[in-house]
Amino acid sequence: MSTLIKNGLVINATGSHAADVLIDGEHIAALVTPGFAVEADEVIDAAGKYVIPGGIDAHTHMEMPFGGTQSADTFETGTTAAAWGGTTTIVDFAVQPKGSSLLSTLDKWHSKADGNCAVDYGFHMIISDVTDESLKEMESCIAAGVNSFKMFMAYPGVFYATDGEILRAMQKARETGATIMMHAENGIAIDQLVAQALASGLGDPVQHGLTRPPELEGEATSRAIQLARVTGSPLYIVHLSASQALDAVTAARDTGQNVFAETCPQYLYLSLEDLAKPGFEGAKYVASPPLRPKEHQSSLWRGLRTNDLSVVSTDHCPFCFKDQKQLGLGDFSKIPNGMPGVEHRVDLLHQGVVKGEITRERWVEIVSTTPARMFGMYPRKGVIAPGADADVVVYDPSATQTISADTHHMAVDYSAYEGFEVTGRVETVFSRGRKVIADGAYHGSTGHGRFVSRDLNQYLV
Ligand code: URP
Ligand code: ZN
Ligand code: ZN
Ligand code: ZN
Repeated sequence: MSTLIKNGLVINATGSHAADVLIDGEHIAALVTPGFAVEADEVIDAAGKYVIPGGIDAHTHMEMPFGGTQSADTFETGTTAAAWGGTTTIVDFAVQPKGSSLLSTLDKWHSKADGNCAVDYGFHMIISDVTDESLKEMESCIAAGVNSFKMFMAYPGVFYATDGEILRAMQKARETGATIMMHAENGIAIDQLVAQALASGLGDPVQHGLTRPPELEGEATSRAIQLARVTGSPLYIVHLSASQALDAVTAARDTGQNVFAETCPQYLYLSLEDLAKPGFEGAKYVASPPLRPKEHQSSLWRGLRTNDLSVVSTDHCPFCFKDQKQLGLGDFSKIPNGMPGVEHRVDLLHQGVVKGEITRERWVEIVSTTPARMFGMYPRKGVIAPGADADVVVYDPSATQTISADTHHMAVDYSAYEGFEVTGRVETVFSRGRKVIADGAYHGSTGHGRFVSRDLNQYLV
């Protein structure tokens, strides 16, 4: 089966040009000068549209046990919603429970995802039990295509790792070329602030934000950077939300250290004011790190321009408002942490282009090309070029839409962006040559998505 996408503007991270894109089977076969006659089984007219590489969301949590419940999207519903939003690859976090091995954890995540995904998927591994065995098993994970390991300076008693444990994992990362991903918040100090707020009778969702001050994200980020410097480990700060943390990342990068960071749409578009909405409404916005006062947003946009922030992922971790977020009614510390977003990342970041915060090439780089390189999938993914997987999105930059839970495809009963009017819309989506979204309908199938065995971080020299 071959398809010719004609008359569009091909946008890659490196530049844009008018070209027709020929898809043959699962791959991009050629970029053709417009007007040059090419035969294809199907022709799509993309006049006035962008043709971009499929989005790569490098941070999702599908059907993840957390906070006494489980995130609401399955691999099937979550990857289908991703496809609707122009994301053709996700990288999800396998979670090692304390006392379990990394390899049994990986098997468990494969059994959840294999045969159930609409688009391609890879895994990172969360290490929550640093033992001699786990450290040794990092090598087997790498051989199995999973070479990025998340650790937590937050959540004492759950995923939390001590500085000593982090140091040991980083030494292993240095030895193997793996990347350590860090949830950088000082969980020990935060736990004291949480206990003090609850003891004072303060239980509303806004307390989630007030007890996790940005300084404690800045402090943990700096500490992670120093541990990475001592060990020589590559470090990727996940879901960076605060200007204090960005300053630490920027300073480290200025010294040439292999430190990278992502932020998320919620930190660019939502704020502490959302957490402070009346009643229990704020629970919809409880995620960690918390939404910050608005002034952090301009720093994050600057970081995206300077490449001190190089990726935007969603940290998609949806919990329904009516039956899951309610677990924390009266006690904000029991609200399951996480927000939905996998469907709207590409559109939300396109607003940065519309508003003049980033160029359209930078948009493609942030949502697709850099995650592909950071997580060892380039040039198979992340680029419109001959030989690449035909993960291709035809994007209408001038269509408008209103984001709403009434029309989204994620298995969650609210949208964090309810009523947001956005300019730009995903029109047609190919996943490895298969047309999965077209004419406002889903044409994909569960099980089409394949596991992506990833190489090491391609930014390391
Ligand atoms: O609140 C969040 N971010 N939930 C998902 C787990 C994590 O820390 O990424
Ligand atoms: Zn985290
Ligand atoms: Zn996360
Ligand atoms: Zn539900």
